[in-house]
This record gives sequence, structure tokens and C-alpha cells, in this order.
Amino acid sequence: MGYVGLCTAATLASRGIRTIGIDIDQARVEQIRKGKAPLHEPHLDTMLKNGVKKKLLDATSEISVVAGTDTTFLTVGTPSQQDGSIDLSYIKNATEDLGNVLREKRGYHLVVVKSTVVPGTTNGTVRRFLEQSSRKTVGEELGLCANPEFLKEGTAINDALHPDKIVIGSNDKKSAHELTRLYRRFYGSKLPPLILTTPEAAELVKYASNAFLATKVSFINTIANIAEQIPGVDVGTIAEAIGLDPRIGSLFLKAGPGYGGSCFHKDLQALINYSQNRNYDPVLFRATEETNEQQAVRVVGIAEKLLGSLSSKRIAVLGLAFKKDTDDIREAASIRVINQLKKKGARVVAYDPMAIPNTKKTLSDQIDYAENAYSALKGADCAIIVTEWDQIRKLKSEDFRTYMKTPNIVDARRILDPQQYTQMNYIAIGTGPSRA
Ligand code: UDX
Repeated sequence: MGYVGLCTAATLASRGIRTIGIDIDQARVEQIRKGKAPLHEPHLDTMLKNGVKKKLLDATSEISVVAGTDTTFLTVGTPSQQDGSIDLSYIKNATEDLGNVLREKRGYHLVVVKSTVVPGTTNGTVRRFLEQSSRKTVGEELGLCANPEFLKEGTAINDALHPDKIVIGSNDKKSAHELTRLYRRFYGSKLPPLILTTPEAAELVKYASNAFLATKVSFINTIANIAEQIPGVDVGTIAEAIGLDPRIGSLFLKAGPGYGGSCFHKDLQALINYSQNRNYDPVLFRATEETNEQQAVRVVGIAEKLLGSLSSKRIAVLGLAFKKDTDDIREAASIRVINQLKKKGARVVAYDPMAIPNTKKTLSDQIDYAENAYSALKGADCAIIVTEWDQIRKLKSEDFRTYMKTPNIVDARRILDPQQYTQMNYIAIGTGPSRA
């Protein structure tokens, strides 16, 4: 019942499909049973509540309930290991527990791998553990599909209800047919384009998708860094113009402090590790990651350009979450920016509307935390905007002038209106020096 599991369960139940969420975390299960989302995601609370109320959704830590169901979605995490490869221990444990229950079940059961796993995992590890513990055979009493999930945090429910595609990888016709039937029931006449393929291809689609998106972000950040060298050039104009070419597309061309979140870095590292183990070095993806890592250094470099040495300077970091409207700081650019600032001897005070509790768990008292943007700005030598929160976008130029010791602003998300800041030391990333 992590991000993917919760959203999948809630949306299945919302379409009248009886669903049981299984998790080993008892406290989480209790919360879900009360119709409360254990994580922050718009609409999830309401959906869980409705599902529980209509008795279409339940949660338990008792995996034996699987015996009374038709289909199981495996949605456990596949975290990164030191070398970038994914840790399959949750997958192995869940599959083994599942197989033990299915041993006693009569009739066909479909197992669907939604967790992000490298090509070969569904047909390899999952299949092996499932067949061993259930003593049944995939393709006979057991169905097995790889069916990756593409939802984004913050719009997860909408993404689950209106995906741009469904990818189903299977070895046999029956399991693909059963899963398609379930989705037909779910989507009715609005079934999204369906890609039926092998489990390995379905697994690779997920990595290819995230690698492409991450590369698109690193690409525009590269252009932003070049644009900064050219008088009269702004990366926004470049992005707008190239985005009109349908071969390029306008989305994911916002220059910023670098991508974060639980997927891009983890998936790129897994893909790089996977390829290298097969004697292919994916230079492009290493560059995507390196560019992303360096982007935080560049953001701090802009602050240095404004202030000179950062030693003992008070820097306000506005925004900690990896993107707006979430409390998630996993792999967030803010952490890389803060680490770099600390390295330079700066004193950091951070503000975020939602992500401070999570940041405290990671950075504890290494930095100060402010209750609102104004108190973060108070007495600061420089402000760095790291997350594109609406609260931060709405700040006025007077706010910076009134509260800061010296109004130096690094807009790493390009959310302020430069016209309002002509009288201040304001630099947005991706903007070249003015001609004057
Ligand atoms: C991503 C994928 O989009 C999703 O399909 C997959 O299932 C999980 O990973 P998510 O991590 O929720 O989703 O975030 P996303 O909205 O994709 O943003 C990722 C990062 O890229 C954020 O830090 C965001 O700020 C950054 N980004 C995105 C940019 O810097 N510029 C852009 O133009 C777009």
C-alpha cells in the first residue's frame, strides 16, 4: 500500500471493483480502513473514504485473503542499492507469501507486477518464487503479467483514471486476456490505447519512459546553462519555440534546479547498472544524471556570483519538496543545493509549506527552519527559490526588499516576474545578462 498500491486500490474500488489492499504495516492498514490516506495525494482521501463506505475497499495485513480473490497486483517498492541496481527483497518476500496462499487456492489466479522492475524480473525472480511457493505453473493455474504504472505524484488519481496507455506484458494469451478484461470493465468505452507485448518489453517501457523524461529535463537545463552566457537570451523563449515542434513537444521543458522524486534517479541508476552488466555503457543516461547533479552546483554558483564568498552568509532556501504540492523530498534538488551551500560555509534557513517535517528527518538541525516565507527571508543575504510553490510565486518584490538584509534572489524555478525585480539583484536560471 505505497503510492502505486494505494492509488491503484482506490481507483479500482471507485469503479465498483471489490478491492483489498494488503500491507505488512498494521498502522497503515488501520488508517486505510478508516478511509484516511497515509500519504499526501489530492483526491486520495475522498476516494478511500468512499470506497470503504461502499464496502468496495478494505485493507488488511493478512495475506490469506488473497485466496478469495481473482487478481493480485504486486505494488511493493524496489528501492535502489549502493550500485544502482534495484533491491528485489520486497518483491521476493511478497511473491513468496502470495505463492504460499495460492497453493491452497482452487482455480485460476492472475498475478500482475506493477512495481518497477528491470527487464527479466517478472519472468525470472517473480515467476520462480511464485511457482516454487505455490507449486503451480505459470501459464496453467497461474497467470503472470508485467503491467507498469506511470502515475505522477500530485496527479496520481487523475493519471490512474486517465492514463495515456496501458502496457501489458505476458507470456500467454490467457493472462493478457484476463487483465485486458479487467481494464475493459474499469474503463468501459474509454479504454486507453493498449500495448500487448512481452513482460521484458513492458518492463523496459517504464524505464525508457522515465529515462526519456529525465533526459528532457537535463536537456533543457543544459540549454539554460548555455543561454545564461548569451546577452538577451532567455531559455523560456527557446523552450516555447522548440516545444511547438510536435516531434519535441512542449512538456518537460521547464529549466530548473534539476529533477528529483522517487523515480527518475532510481530508475536511471537501475537502467545504467542493468546495461553495464550487459557490457553496454549508456553514456547518454550517465550524462543525464551528471547534468542533474551539477545543476544544484550551478544554482549555488549563481548565488556566489551575486554575493561573492558564501561563508557565514545567511541563505534562505524557498521550497524543499521535489516539486510543488507534495511533502516528498526524496532526491529533491533542495537537498543537493543545501549540501552545496553548507560546503561553502553558508548558514541555511529553509521554508516549505509541507515538506519541513520530512526534511527534519533527513537534515535535522543542520539548517534552520522557518514557519513562513517571510521569516525565512528575514535578515537573509540571498534567497534561492528551489520549488515552484504557489505561495512562493505569489511573493512580491517588496517582500524581498522589506525582509532581507540584502535582496539577492536566485530564481531557480523561474517563477517570479523579472520585470518586478529590475531594481534588485535578481537572477533567474537560464537568463542571459541584459544587453544594457
Ligand atoms: C515521474 C514520472 O513523470 C511518472 O510517469 C513516473 O511514474 C514516476 O516518476 P514524479 O516523480 O511524480 O513522476 O514527478 P514528475 O512530475 O515527473 O517530476 C519529476 C521531477 O522533474 C521534479 O523534480 C520536477 O520538478 C522536475 N521537472 C519536471 C523539471 O525540472 N522540469 C520539467 O519541465 C518537468
